Amino acid sequence: MSYLNMKDEELLTVVVELNILLADYHIYYQKLRSNHWNILGKNFFDLHVQFEELYTDARVKIDEIAERILTLRYHPMSKFSDYLRVSSIAEAAPIKSDMDMVTETIKDHKLILKQMGKVIEVAEGVNDEGTIDLIGAYIRELEKASWMLDAWSKNTSDALKTRVAEVQ
Ligand SMILES: [Fe+2]
Repeated sequence: MSYLNMKDEELLTVVVELNILLADYHIYYQKLRSNHWNILGKNFFDLHVQFEELYTDARVKIDEIAERILTLRYHPMSKFSDYLRVSSIAEAAPIKSDMDMVTETIKDHKLILKQMGKVIEVAEGVNDEGTIDLIGAYIRELEKASWMLDAWSKNTSDALKTRVAEVQ
């Protein structure tokens, strides 16, 4: 007997989107690990730590997404071949500049945020409040992480010029 006040058939639409999000997170996680290992240059110490923080956060979310799927009485997708097939996150060359690593991470965040939007949309359709609550918090956190990476990628002198231009 189901312990949920929702029907299994209705929840399938939510589970399909959650599994795609799980796939996205696995590819994203591995790319962050690669960035953590392969970062070169003057920003090594900052970004080596930053990418570790991001992949540690992603690892927690991977587990929570999979366990949400189990809570909804389905099984999470678990094979890497399936993750690669359904994810919109593309694998990338491991060696690249620090700026390229950061801008690609921001782009991946946008794709993940889009998928989170789909999860929320279908979850709202079946009143799956638990999933809305979980993924809603992820959206806020990922948007904040994107802001910080975007701020890192900017030049202070550019920002000051913009500010001066605004007050004139
Ligand atoms: Fe490490």
